[in-house]
Amino acid sequence: MRRKLVVGNWKMHGDQAMTTALCAEIARGVKQAIARAADPASVAEVALCPPHILIPLAATALADSEVAVGAQDVDAHANGAFSGQISADMLVDSGCRYVIVGHSERRTHYHETDALVAQKTATALAAGLSAIVCCGETMAQRQAERTEQVVERQLAAALDGIGAADFANLVIAYEPVWAIGSGVTATPTQAQQAHHFIRQRLAAHNPRAATCRILYGGSMKPQNAAALLANADIDGGLIGGAALQASDFLAICNAAAT
Ligand code: PGA
Repeated sequence: MRRKLVVGNWKMHGDQAMTTALCAEIARGVKQAIARAADPASVAEVALCPPHILIPLAATALADSEVAVGAQDVDAHANGAFSGQISADMLVDSGCRYVIVGHSERRTHYHETDALVAQKTATALAAGLSAIVCCGETMAQRQAERTEQVVERQLAAALDGIGAADFANLVIAYEPVWAIGSGVTATPTQAQQAHHFIRQRLAAHNPRAATCRILYGGSMKPQNAAALLANADIDGGLIGGAALQASDFLAICNAAAT
């Protein structure tokens, strides 16, 4: 049984006051959910990914909690003369357990290629982080019926550089680009179809990869979370806008409880 995972991606939002308050409120909510649950493993695992500069503060605020810290990006190199960049070891040193790689905003605005995303994934895994690798099609690609082709290409690139032992630390996020920040969510059927396809590709690549968690991302909200998360291959959510309000985010976490 794959334990559900709900990850908040704060993007370029927040300051120190918000970080302290939001982390405390979410940690409290998750603690209460665990106390209420007959089986603590039925409660979703939760991680928050603030901007890099707020990670140490979030790590301090979440230190004695059940909530993990993650980052939104990492450099592909282990270290060196790369001004402005953040390495995987630095993320680990600052308390991160997760890192998001290949988000569509990075692919679009910063021209990240499949090859670069694959390098970042390998670097993150080598440092001991869990890598949340994002994939997903644009609306034009969906309309041209190229969703599976696009997702397969993105996935194949990332999977190629991963050793079998690392699949335990790999998470895939299916994020249709047209659903991100748009308020338009994939229907549960559309999402499940894509997730099932991803599961099949993972299994074909390596049977151990078939057990990776596959998160849905793209306008997941308290109102639509339960219907999405009820599907067999949807193992959690990557949450943007709704991660900035503790009540919304906790409602999604509660909807993910099994
Ligand atoms: P959204 O963002 O929930 O605001 O659509 C999701 C994401 O980009 O990870």
